[in-house]
Amino acid sequence: MKIRLAKPEDAKQIAEVHVISWKEAYKNIMTEKTLSSITVAKQKKEWDKYLKDEHAQTLVAEKDGRIVGFVIFGDTWDGDLEDKADKSLEIYSIYVDPAEFGKGIGTELLKEMRKHDKRKEVYVWVVVENKWGQFFVKHGFKKQKKTLKDFNFKGEIFPIIRYKK
Ligand SMILES: CC(C)(COP(=O)(O)OP(=O)(O)OC[C@H]1O[C@@H](n2cnc3c(N)ncnc32)[C@H](O)[C@@H]1OP(=O)(O)O)[C@@H](O)C(=O)NCCC(=O)NCCS
Repeated sequence: MKIRLAKPEDAKQIAEVHVISWKEAYKNIMTEKTLSSITVAKQKKEWDKYLKDEHAQTLVAEKDGRIVGFVIFGDTWDGDLEDKADKSLEIYSIYVDPAEFGKGIGTELLKEMRKHDKRKEVYVWVVVENKWGQFFVKHGFKKQKKTLKDFNFKGEIFPIIRYKK
């Protein structure tokens, strides 16, 4: 497995991993209607934008020439942290192909991210019901209880909480 910076032409494969993993992670959390509205075509358009965003970096994990995971990270825009001179680092999202869950790819992506961005504090927002929040706990993140808030995704409301390391 190889981890490298994403290129603009990776947008389609990243979108494929994103959609399949998203549907698996949120199958018991989001409604069928919401999940079926998430398509590779729509996500690819989003990724075409993210991969050009100068505030974010994306790393992909590649196995036998195919993308099997990604992490996108950059400055946090959270109001309570923004005033700091050195903006803190936020993981915007990290997803692995469900066929590869639990094989260490997420861990490798996190490690490589730390080589690319050495800022001390790292934050990530996670849907409270998402059991993969455990992944961040395993890597030393702690829930910041006071950050609990509602997140509106396509009209559905999900409590989310920020983790800090
Ligand atoms: C979270 C994710 C990126 C982790 O990547 P991964 O390659 O599967 O994880 P690793 O193999 O490196 O690490 C394993 C750890 O992840 C967590 N994990 C893996 N599978 C899990 C599951 N089914 N339920 C809960 N936690 C799980 C555990 O903490 C596990 O540690 P353990 O083996 O000591 O219990 C990946 O599972 C994923 O894409 N999940 C769905 C998307 C998501 O929810 N992303 C996070 C929010 S942005």
